[in-house]
Amino acid sequence: MFKRVNFISLLDKWYQTNKRQLPWRKTTHPYNIWISEIILQQTRVNQGINYYNNFISTFPDIESLANASEDQVLNQWKGLGYYSRAHNIHLSAKYIFKDLNNIFPNTFQEILKLKGVGKYTAAAVASISFNEKIPAIDGNAFRVYSRIFNSDKDISKQTTFNYFFNLLKTVIPNNPGDFNQSIMDFGSLICIPKKPNCEICPICMECLAFKNSNQNILPINKSV
Ligand code: ADE
Repeated sequence: MFKRVNFISLLDKWYQTNKRQLPWRKTTHPYNIWISEIILQQTRVNQGINYYNNFISTFPDIESLANASEDQVLNQWKGLGYYSRAHNIHLSAKYIFKDLNNIFPNTFQEILKLKGVGKYTAAAVASISFNEKIPAIDGNAFRVYSRIFNSDKDISKQTTFNYFFNLLKTVIPNNPGDFNQSIMDFGSLICIPKKPNCEICPICMECLAFKNSNQNILPINKSV
């Protein structure tokens, strides 16, 4: 299949001047990135900011989290919901501190083994903290990629995930953390679900859905 990849440098340029200033973007330390990505799994960015800041000031590193009691950790999570996330990060912190000699796993495959970490979160941490060229694909990224490539593949299917994962892996640039986060910001600010802002889109000339006027009907999700 012909792959259009010209959007990458345009998106990078857009991201450098339009990226959101978020507290977890002041560092690439894997502990901080991991905590932020777990919070953002089921929580919106605006709500997640305060929780992230409070969590990091209470537990600034793996050791402090590993040594905390379950109640102390749950207390920091109060109001966020999906409390299994707090339980899993506590378990994982103890595991990393004791069994991994306090060394955070440093590859996509190893990060994926942590409890509560799926492919999206592992890819985000591996790319942002360790520069590994792995695409982070969630619902927002699916929407953006379906439109750029004018794909009518059903995004609820595992085969579609594999298709985009393999496709993006071959074209992801040398700054994969910025690339993945540029897709997140682009999906939140420009390539939004309904009525995408194509009139101010920095990559519309490279977007096959825009070219074919399909941007409002993509992505296809047959599970909803
Ligand atoms: N959503 C999930 N991860 C994110 C990140 N690192 N920045 C912004 N939004 C996100």
